[in-house]
Amino acid sequence: MNNIFTTNKILQRSDKENLLNQKGIAVWLTGLSGAGKTTIAVALEKTLHSKGKLTQVLDGDNIRAGINNNLGFSEEDRIENIRRIAEIAKLFVNNGIITICCFISPTEKMRSLAKDIIGKKDFVEVYINTPLEICEKRDVKGLYAKARKGEIKDFTGIDSPFEEPKNASLNLKTSEMSVEESVAEILRYINRIKK
Ligand code: ADX
Repeated sequence: MNNIFTTNKILQRSDKENLLNQKGIAVWLTGLSGAGKTTIAVALEKTLHSKGKLTQVLDGDNIRAGINNNLGFSEEDRIENIRRIAEIAKLFVNNGIITICCFISPTEKMRSLAKDIIGKKDFVEVYINTPLEICEKRDVKGLYAKARKGEIKDFTGIDSPFEEPKNASLNLKTSEMSVEESVAEILRYINRIKK
């Protein structure tokens, strides 16, 4: 009988996906600091979890406190940040896990690096499109105020660029929609492509 224990072949991604009864995918949320990436990711994860789906959220603050704690915010460091995260995300995706990545990833170069590493067919780019004025007004972490005072250098949107995503699969104007609506749009999109 040809079952997984009687062959020497290593377990395949499809074996993991069959076990979980789901397809692995990376949902890549890009946008300014304070745009709502993590809020949407957490709500998306809870919704998927309640439907019996296994998920993993990776976000700037926790990854930068751990594996990437030697990286700053120069362009070079941000590229390395994104490169490592994409490699990590790929491991999760190849285990069939729905991997929700929340990183500013401010340039097309960084986002296409992530897409190349993870693989085009497993990568969904979602632009969390919240205007700078709103992010700055919210200033949840007080970082915009510090950046304006010059206490933080190279802050995205202030003295470091954010290139508007041109190739995003979804462009969510969060100032015009609720978190639930954003989650619903992402779910609709991933359900359609991962059949
Ligand atoms: S990225 O540009 O390399 O993709 P990442 O998403 O990992 O950034 O980290 C962004 C988070 O780091 C922000 O939400 C903010 O809390 C913090 N941060 C600290 N310094 C900066 C800075 N100079 N620019 C942007 N975010 C910063």
